[in-house]
Amino acid sequence: MAVGTRVLPKKLFIKTYGCQMNVYDSARMADVLAPLGYERTDLPEGADMVILNSCHIREKAAEKIYSEVGRLRPLKSARRAAGGDMIIAVAGCVAQAEGAEIMRRAPAVDMVFGPQTYHRLPEMVARAARAGTRDAGPREGGPGRGVLETDFPVEAKFDHLPDAAAPQGVSAFLAVQEGCDKFCSFCVVPYTRGAEYSRPAADVVAEAARIVAQGAREITLLGQNVNAYHGAGPDGREWGLGRLLRRLAEIDGLDRLRYTTSHPSDMDDDLIAAHGEVEALMPYLHLPVQSGADSVLAAMNRNYTADEYRRLAERLRAARPDLALASDFIVGFPGETEADFAATLALVEDVGFAQAYSFKYSPRPGTPGAARAGQVDEAVKADRLARLQAALEAGQRAFNDAMVGRVLPVLFDGPGKRAGQLAGRSPYMQAVHAEADAALLGAIHPVQIVAGHANSLSGRVLAPAAGAPDMPAVVAPAPDAGVRA
Ligand code: SAH
Ligand code: SF4
Ligand code: F3S
Repeated sequence: MAVGTRVLPKKLFIKTYGCQMNVYDSARMADVLAPLGYERTDLPEGADMVILNSCHIREKAAEKIYSEVGRLRPLKSARRAAGGDMIIAVAGCVAQAEGAEIMRRAPAVDMVFGPQTYHRLPEMVARAARAGTRDAGPREGGPGRGVLETDFPVEAKFDHLPDAAAPQGVSAFLAVQEGCDKFCSFCVVPYTRGAEYSRPAADVVAEAARIVAQGAREITLLGQNVNAYHGAGPDGREWGLGRLLRRLAEIDGLDRLRYTTSHPSDMDDDLIAAHGEVEALMPYLHLPVQSGADSVLAAMNRNYTADEYRRLAERLRAARPDLALASDFIVGFPGETEADFAATLALVEDVGFAQAYSFKYSPRPGTPGAARAGQVDEAVKADRLARLQAALEAGQRAFNDAMVGRVLPVLFDGPGKRAGQLAGRSPYMQAVHAEADAALLGAIHPVQIVAGHANSLSGRVLAPAAGAPDMPAVVAPAPDAGVRA
């Protein structure tokens, strides 16, 4: 490399909160900053730049950012005292929602920028470097770096981000859609991520092929509402997610496809059919229902009833009998009665979820839910959450226990709990731990399940048949799979 173009190495620490879209975005920020000499490090100590990629979905998630800035302040002062520097940046959804407020409340923060601005990071870093630091002198009144960027053009972000550089390993994320037009009355995402945007199908296919060439065997397509995907197809038509998945499944070496997160109203016929027809599409679907009570679903602006969700689950399982469903739930939405909550428990019993996240409703400033009458008492929310989680955990445990004795193809993607073990994922997203030769890392290998646990499975690696080091991505499901005991 010519001396004139050499850049000094700098350390970049990125801490990621929230959803997988943020995980993906953090990797892309590192890609954008790499040409400036920034290399990712695992610790904030000694970093030249720290980015907190924030989440605004619930109050607690947002508060974590202010606590983390408090922990970084002394590190920044120590760096400065030693003649160095540390740029502290807040990115992500809190940055989008509370940009100026963060600057005011946390003077140690130099840069605040929203999710649609990451392609402009080099220019923002240059501005921050020129501006000196607000922390240099007395806390108040010093010169401010004050770099604040909260513009919204989603398509500009995808058009201008460089190709993903750093390999993501055998299991990779690929954002195909961003933003949300659904405006569920509890949710900040439409405000922090902007309007729905779908990337052109050809761009997605090209990125997938690159990721596979870098070594990925599994790709999870991401979007705030990924099944609302409607990107321009190379044939001049609009492609839905089903069409896109069928095309991606043709990529040589891509054995597993997943997508998250989906809205029940956007499960169209072609996508449902794809679950039965596309072998690489894994039999696991995160399809949040939120509540089992029609009045609550209506107040949440979810656009389906509990029975419509039940029928949708049946149609999906008709297409793919072993499909495992996962969900998110909110308890204590304003107006939720004990009978409404009982309806949620009934839906959990009827559908049988292999996995679920559940939350107490958290009123978010600016969302319609926060202004609704009938806010539910914290103690009531806590009690309902505990009861719901007990039911969900029992369901998950039963699902895991039902795997014992079966042989599952496991994609090994990292070290296991103990020495000599590897960890991987079953087709149903269960974490599987097994004694395994390190050479199996990155392989999809048959594993006999010997024990089910609350959050994982233990297995025994089977010797593959001679001449067949790998097995197909999916083995024929047992008839009971996916149905809760
Ligand atoms: N797009 C997805 C959800 C994204 S947010 C969907 O439509 O299902 C992830 C989860 O956070 C939601 O499914 C919901 O269960 C939870 N969540 C969102 N806003 C919340 C709030 N204000 N309080 C509590 N939980 C919330
Ligand atoms: Fe939020 Fe609803 Fe959009 Fe999901 S669909 S991101 S819950 S507004
Ligand atoms: Fe959080 Fe934003 Fe994702 S609010 S859940 S980081 S879209």
